[in-house]
Amino acid sequence: DERVRVALLGCGTVGSEVTRVLLDEADELAARVGAPVELAGIAVRRPDKHPELPQELLTNDAGALVESDVDIVVELIGGIEPVRGWLLTALRKGRSVVTANKALLSEHSAELAEAADLSGADLYYEASVAGAIPLLRPLRESLAGDRITRVMGIVNGTTNYILSAMDATGAGYAETLDEASRLGYAEADPTADVDGYDAASKAAILASLAFHTRVTASDVHREGIAGITASDIAAARLLNRTVKLLAICERVTADDGTESVSARVHPVMIPRSHQLAGVNGAFNAVYVEADAAGELMFYGQGAGGAPTASAVLGDLVAAARNRVAGGRGPRESAHAALPVRPMGQT
Ligand code: HSE
Repeated sequence: DERVRVALLGCGTVGSEVTRVLLDEADELAARVGAPVELAGIAVRRPDKHPELPQELLTNDAGALVESDVDIVVELIGGIEPVRGWLLTALRKGRSVVTANKALLSEHSAELAEAADLSGADLYYEASVAGAIPLLRPLRESLAGDRITRVMGIVNGTTNYILSAMDATGAGYAETLDEASRLGYAEADPTADVDGYDAASKAAILASLAFHTRVTASDVHREGIAGITASDIAAARLLNRTVKLLAICERVTADDGTESVSARVHPVMIPRSHQLAGVNGAFNAVYVEADAAGELMFYGQGAGGAPTASAVLGDLVAAARNRVAGGRGPRESAHAALPVRPMGQT
């Protein structure tokens, strides 16, 4: 059977766009993959809330869908439990997994990667960091022969939108957050974004791939933007600077030659002439520095249904092509076991 069967877990903003492409552009996808890509089922909590979807595909039993005869599981539910168990089951059964779940990856990537390695399945998660921007595959594959020393950038669209708006209008934090929520740029519960948890998860994923090690979100020093005031922004402006929430992951070499990783998320006053100062609104941008490549910059839409679906579908096509070829894609190399430095240590 040459078909590639796909189970979709979760059908919100991103999942509905993935579904649309799988259904409406099936011929095009089949041509790119070399075999038909068939949507076998969609697990949602409340099937009755999705009259727009093909009813015969809907189920509220994600566990059973994962256990059914599928090749690839695409997970767009988010959060750690019960998703972790479903994805481990999928990987152990040899199904490839495509996920955008940064909270799960940033705490449990070691366990998930091990399950994938054991069964020979793919584990792809390009959409978990910086939405549409191709960033994880370049770190994992294109730069695998280089030595990355630094990954730094704006990886949270919500906080970047708020800080950009505060800089543009001179308004305070609370009123700008209210406005961002009203316009749909901030979630109903913006805590994970404004307190830096979302960016810390992404920093953990980036540092792990860049430095071939395992950094978890709890290893990342984290400070959000809730304490930034209109006068902070005004003071920065007087210094010809602006405030950005940055994720900064660095390879640190001590005098005795021992290496470690520093991973942190905090607001930074950057010169207005810096390229990151020009990254406004919900956009993301990430600098990568490597010994041979020098400086690289990745820029684009870091959130939203269609941009994030682009990354999910790219992973899905890659995993499906690997299936058709009878193999799996390149594995991760997490061999370095570099210690993570606490903040303030020199
Ligand atoms: N809440 C995230 C952001 C969504 O604002 O960047 C994308 O991960």
